[in-house]
Amino acid sequence: MKSKHIRGVNDLGKDGIQEILSLSDHFFEVSTRRIPKVPALRGRTIAWLFYENSTRTRLSFETAAKRLSADSMNFSVSSSSVKKGESLRDTVETVSAMGVDAIVVRHSSTGVPWLLPKWTDASIINAGDGAHEHPTQSLLDCYTIQKQLGGIEGKKIVIVGDIKHSRVARSNILAFKAMGAEIVLVAPRTLLPVDTSTWPVEISENLDESISDADVIYMLRMQLERQKEAFVPSLREYTNDFGLTLERAQKLPKHTIIMHPGPMNRGVEIASEVPELGNAVVTNQVSNGVIVRMAVLYFLLGSGAELSEDGNDNE
Ligand code: NCD
Repeated sequence: MKSKHIRGVNDLGKDGIQEILSLSDHFFEVSTRRIPKVPALRGRTIAWLFYENSTRTRLSFETAAKRLSADSMNFSVSSSSVKKGESLRDTVETVSAMGVDAIVVRHSSTGVPWLLPKWTDASIINAGDGAHEHPTQSLLDCYTIQKQLGGIEGKKIVIVGDIKHSRVARSNILAFKAMGAEIVLVAPRTLLPVDTSTWPVEISENLDESISDADVIYMLRMQLERQKEAFVPSLREYTNDFGLTLERAQKLPKHTIIMHPGPMNRGVEIASEVPELGNAVVTNQVSNGVIVRMAVLYFLLGSGAELSEDGNDNE
């Protein structure tokens, strides 16, 4: 069944993820054309509601929308009536009354994307809610792994770092699991949620052992802005035990890929030189972000008729 919203990975399930990954292959082909733009979403309007900072997510959504010829309604929290105390509900109702087909929302509070359908008929796309979910990041990560390693099923994916505050980790665990991967979390106890007993993962505190036979090493940023207390004795100690140092990266099996959602704290969770190594795919993740977000917008807003078999648009 086609879902109306992408608020969390479970709005899609395995079938939805697979559909978006195959649509992404189509949009990858579009991105290689001399003019990487199609009229697939002409006449559709998308509003961006970013209540939290963002560089790559916002830019890649905006680029994706432009390449699909959609119109966008820009909303900047710092210059909007939010600063005059307008509530989320009033903002959403106002944007909605102007006629939007989708709202892409990022908010520091968990659950905001699930509230929005009460106030609008638009499709909701979660671009990150608090420390909860970030489903489009996990879709672009699935696409990147599939392209680099030929598939996700059966792969050993080691997610390292600040799991407790990471919406990327939560969405990725759901998506990687749905696609049949084996997941290992490596973090100090203080950077894990209190209860992980229902999570379909293995947990370890030994980075060197866990990464020795990994297919994917997924490094997470230390989310210092979400940490209200000291979770590690010192950042230097954290880097020693849980950082992807150059020495660790050079010892990895040849086929292992290194990922990071960005922004990176170079020198903390990942050594400065590591993203430049041949098996680091951090910039591939960024380029794939545009392609996958085109697929996401098309999946929710396209009629299905605009893309022909040979990949050319009918219009
Ligand atoms: C992530 C986020 O905002 O959750 N970044 C991103 O979207 N690329 C991860 C992070 O901030 O560490």
